[in-house]
Amino acid sequence: MKKYLSTSRLNLATSSLDWVMGMTIKQSLSLKDAVALTDVTKLTVPEKPIETLYIHIPFCHTLCRFCSFHKIKFNEGVAKAYFKALRQEIRMVIAQGYRFNRVYIGGGTTTILEDELIKTIEMIKSITTVREVSCESDPIYFKEGNPHLLKGLVDRMSIGVQSFDDKILKASGRFEKFGSGLQQAEYVSRAIEVIPTVNLDMMYGFKMQTPETVASDLAQTIRLSPDQITTYPLTVGIGQNRKKAGCLAGSPEELWPQFLAVKEAMAERYIMEFPWTFSRNFGQPVENKYVLDGEDCFGVGSGAFGRFGEQFRISSFDIPDYISRIESGQTGTCYTKPLEAKALLQHHLMMMMGHGTLDNQQFKAHTGKTLWQAFPLEMSYLISAGALTKKGNNYQTTVGGQFIALKMFSGFLAGMDYLREQARDLPLTMAVDESAENKSDESAIFTG
Ligand SMILES: C[S@@+](CC[C@H](N)C(=O)[O-])C[C@H]1O[C@@H](n2cnc3c(N)ncnc32)[C@H](O)[C@@H]1O
Ligand code: SF4
Repeated sequence: MKKYLSTSRLNLATSSLDWVMGMTIKQSLSLKDAVALTDVTKLTVPEKPIETLYIHIPFCHTLCRFCSFHKIKFNEGVAKAYFKALRQEIRMVIAQGYRFNRVYIGGGTTTILEDELIKTIEMIKSITTVREVSCESDPIYFKEGNPHLLKGLVDRMSIGVQSFDDKILKASGRFEKFGSGLQQAEYVSRAIEVIPTVNLDMMYGFKMQTPETVASDLAQTIRLSPDQITTYPLTVGIGQNRKKAGCLAGSPEELWPQFLAVKEAMAERYIMEFPWTFSRNFGQPVENKYVLDGEDCFGVGSGAFGRFGEQFRISSFDIPDYISRIESGQTGTCYTKPLEAKALLQHHLMMMMGHGTLDNQQFKAHTGKTLWQAFPLEMSYLISAGALTKKGNNYQTTVGGQFIALKMFSGFLAGMDYLREQARDLPLTMAVDESAENKSDESAIFTG
């Protein structure tokens, strides 16, 4: 470990980073300045295609203890009505003139109603020219469902395994529904036979994990030979989810040796795209659904987020409200929020750090500023923490720096968590419309 950075120096650097990130998230991702959207047709439709159409499916067979994504326990009637509304929203968005390069269907569990998912993808393919469709699923679908029916429809499937260790599966509430680690390995291998590109989501940072168990989890994952592996650090969030996920999390100092174990386990057969994504295919970019990644994204469905430049869009988190919005001819997007340019730049910094090089010239061409002009404090911190080394005009991320990028990524997940938590509490906009005549002062902050 000494050859990278002293552990105490790294712990000091990352604990101050955790604190700063918590403050920054609360400040820059507060929804206090969210504006209710009463007429979606007033939004400008971009001339160029938007990179990603993100579709959210908020249903799961089981609600895992660590997860704060927007989802409810599966109910067939509600889910059917939901998929119907979703297709209507997609048709509406296309009719408004939006165009997309690719589709990412996330959840929740997108395969929860296979026939509805198929109908939705077929409908999208019949009215758009999207070049790629990605979905997320749980492992049990590949035992109970008919994944061969997705042939030609789904190009990439991301499957949540998290761990093959039954203790972790039990503690997180997944064992009962998805089976043991061994059974899940078998289900996942069926997926790998049928779907062109498969990503497996694994997690670490659970309190019963050690660098050795993380390594053995990943050895089992690598034996299955998926195209991509995402290794998520268990993120506790900064809001209500903190309690549930917090009970499962190990201490922050345990993450560094586990991160080194991840790197070592992956080194031989996978390349690190980012410190949290690994790919078996050289040069093939790994997909990532998070909307602040730099690419514009349009979100449909309950609980979806979207981003265009510095505008952030939020769809109703209330499923009945979402369905009635669509049935009454509105889209699901009900609030917008301006994003600070600084928050977007910080996200860019995280992605550059994760990627390994901070290229001054490229950064200036993109933002009009040098790295030091954009990040005077951050650059001083990263250099003094031993996270960056200078190479000509540019900087390269050290292994300690990769770990700091991973912590920044975890901060980003916590930020998304914080946004979701606040979005759940936003007043329903159908109600705002009805009472538009006599709005109180309080609701005025949510209206344009
Ligand atoms: C929204 S889930 C969808 C996958 C699918 N429903 C499943 O769990 O099998 C996507 C991934 O997010 C990751 N995830 C969920 N909660 C997390 C947390 N608190 N910290 C880090 N990663 C998390 C998990 O790895 C999960 O597979
Ligand atoms: S991890 Fe997946 S299955 Fe578990 S609650 Fe979250 S979205 Fe649902």
